[in-house]
Amino acid sequence: MPELMTTPDVIVVGGGIVGLSVAWRTARRGLSVAVVDPDPGGGATHASAGMLAPVSEVTYTEEPVLRLGLASLALWPSFRDELEGDSGVDLDYRTDGTLKIAYDADDMAYLDELAAFERTLGLRVERLTGRECRRLEPMLAPSIRGGMLAEDDAWVNPRLVTRALRTALDRAGAAVVADRAVALTARGVRLASDGVVAAPRVVVAAGPWSPELLPGLPVRPVKGQILRLRGPGGFLTRCVRGLVHGSPAYLVPRGDGEITLGATMEELGFDGRVTAGGVYELLRDAHELVPGLTEMELAETTVGFRPGTPDNLPLIGPFDVPGEADVLAATGHHRNGVLLTPITAEAVAAFLTGEAVPEVVKSCDPGRFPE
Ligand code: GLY
Repeated sequence: MPELMTTPDVIVVGGGIVGLSVAWRTARRGLSVAVVDPDPGGGATHASAGMLAPVSEVTYTEEPVLRLGLASLALWPSFRDELEGDSGVDLDYRTDGTLKIAYDADDMAYLDELAAFERTLGLRVERLTGRECRRLEPMLAPSIRGGMLAEDDAWVNPRLVTRALRTALDRAGAAVVADRAVALTARGVRLASDGVVAAPRVVVAAGPWSPELLPGLPVRPVKGQILRLRGPGGFLTRCVRGLVHGSPAYLVPRGDGEITLGATMEELGFDGRVTAGGVYELLRDAHELVPGLTEMELAETTVGFRPGTPDNLPLIGPFDVPGEADVLAATGHHRNGVLLTPITAEAVAAFLTGEAVPEVVKSCDPGRFPE
C-alpha cells in the first residue's frame, strides 16, 4: 500500500462523484484529505447519465427528495464555476431543460396528471402538443402524442466531473489511495492490501458497498443498464425522457455527439451482467420515441449500481460506530447522485468543520430508520 507522508485530517472511503466532491470541498476548507478507492471515478458515476433533473424526476410521495434536489440544483452553477476554475476542465454543463414525451394516449394522461401534481408543488412545467415537441426536437417520431417541458432541469457529463475532481484534488495536495477499504479501525481504515490509513475522521461514501464498512446501514444496490450511442452532434438538443406504454426511458445528449440512453431499474443485487433483454428494452423504447437513433453506433453498454435506501433519501451525517473512528456517512443517493453532489459535499464539509449544515439535509440523518 502507498505510504502517506502524514496522517490526513479526513479519510473519504469511495471515489465516486460524491466521495471526490466531499474530499474537494473539505480540502478547500483547509483540511488534509485522503480518498481510498480501488477505481476512483468508476462505479455508478461512470455509468450515470448526469441529469440534474429534480423537476422531471419527481414522483408522488417523494417531496423531501424534491426539496433536497432543488436545493442542490441551485448550488450547481457555483459548484461548476469553482470546479472548472480549480481544474481547467469543461464539465459540459447544460441548462436547456428536459422534454418529457408521451408515446400514446395513456402515457399522455399519466404525464398530464403528474404535471398537475408538479404545479401544486410550484414547479414550472409547460404542456406541449406533439407538433410543438417536434418543433423543439425534430428527430422525435411523428406519432408522439405530446409532452411537457421542464425548463429548469439541467445536466452535466459525470465523467468530466470526476476528471475535474481528480485534477482539483491533485492540485490541492489530496492523496488518492488506489486500494479497497475493508474495515474501520479505531484510528482510520484497514485496506485490502492489509495496510492501514490512519485519520481521526472517516467519511464513508462507498455507494451500495457502504454497509461493508457500516453494517446495518440501509443501502442496497439497484442495478441499472445504460447505453452510450455515438453519432452526429445536434441529433437532440435537450434531455428527452419518454414514456412508452408506461415504460420510462431517457436520452441525454452531449456536446461531442454522444447520447446516453437509460436505464433499467433492477433489484438483482450486484449482478453485473449486461443482458440481451435489458439492451433490447432500452433500444426498443428509444426507437419508438426517436426512430433515427438506430443509425447511431452502439458505443458502450454499462452496468451501474445505484445506492438505494428505504425512503429514497440519501444518508448524510454522523453514524455512530462505538469504539471506531469518528464516522460520517455520505451515501444512498439512489437515482440522484450527480444532482445531489453539491449539497452533500457542502453538508459533509460543514459537519467536518463545525459550520452550520443546510437545514434541508436534516431529513437525511443516517440514524432515521428504527433498528
Ligand atoms: N437518474 C437516472 C437513473 O438513475 O437512471
